[in-house]
Amino acid sequence: MKIIKRPRRLRSNSLIRELIKETRLQVEDLVYPLFVVEGENIKKEISSLPGNYHFSIDKLIEEIDELEKLGIKYIMLFGIPNKKDEIGSQAYSKDGIVQKAIRSIKQRHKDIYIITDICLCQYTDHGHCGILEETGYVNNDETLEYLSKIAVSHAEAGADMVAPSDMMDGRIGHMRRKLDEDGYVNLPIMSYSIKYSSSFYGPFRDAAHSAPSFGDRKTYQMDPANPSEALREVQLDIEEGADIVMVKPALAYLDIIRKVKDKYDVPMAAYNVSGEYAMLKMAIKNDLLSEEAIYESLLSIKRAGADIIITYFAKEIAQKLKERY
Ligand code: PBG
Repeated sequence: MKIIKRPRRLRSNSLIRELIKETRLQVEDLVYPLFVVEGENIKKEISSLPGNYHFSIDKLIEEIDELEKLGIKYIMLFGIPNKKDEIGSQAYSKDGIVQKAIRSIKQRHKDIYIITDICLCQYTDHGHCGILEETGYVNNDETLEYLSKIAVSHAEAGADMVAPSDMMDGRIGHMRRKLDEDGYVNLPIMSYSIKYSSSFYGPFRDAAHSAPSFGDRKTYQMDPANPSEALREVQLDIEEGADIVMVKPALAYLDIIRKVKDKYDVPMAAYNVSGEYAMLKMAIKNDLLSEEAIYESLLSIKRAGADIIITYFAKEIAQKLKERY
């Protein structure tokens, strides 16, 4: 046989495979989402997200000790308030759950980077991501004032980065201006630029008690059928001052991640959402897939073009990366 080109030469042992590896997953790529609740001494597993918990602030601090041991440096905070109202006032209260959590974390952990989710849905009694008109339609421009107030209150508490997930028009520009006016010119904004109206958020809405009490989010989140619209959303966010753009969900939208990266080459995040986590977790639990499927999925997100992966798998994959895949 006269075969000159033999790709298998570079697959013949693990050393050579390691040498030519094109994509590497690192612990620094990972952001771990955490849910914080009011109260004390609470660490309660979230049934829809096995392996993830509702933490009171004291327990959250202990969890962060664990994360530091694993080398995880980036967290994304979600607050679950005790009280909800029409305008989500607990979201921007100085003594809101997220604001208190940020201050406590920063006292003890100087080297943890705190990103906060900016949205109203966990805080409104109707569960929508903004301020409602009488018809039930979310009023865009009025909502912007509230979102920016939340962002400024997180900045005052000591957040390192804010991440608006509401999908209102013009929110990045509005928030950038308000943050700058208050002196937070160096606080980056990671925009959930491309957030599809997805059924993969189901377990999160259970975990965060944030399902809309009527209707759906289709008047503000994007139609999963639309890739060109995704590019327009990113373009707007970059023009308005977003520092990092995000695609969400990740696994069902790898084509979108690649498309954005090819066109804009800006720092990009992808959110490996709750439904994607739950699906894989179930399959592994039932011995249908091996744990390696987690690594493979996260690698595919990185290969598609994401620099940052927000994932509920952060802890387990960090452990595996330590043991070295
Ligand atoms: C809040 C928000 C949601 C998620 C992140 N921020 C839920 C939603 O839009 O309904 C989803 C995260 C996940 O599913 O893991 N707006």
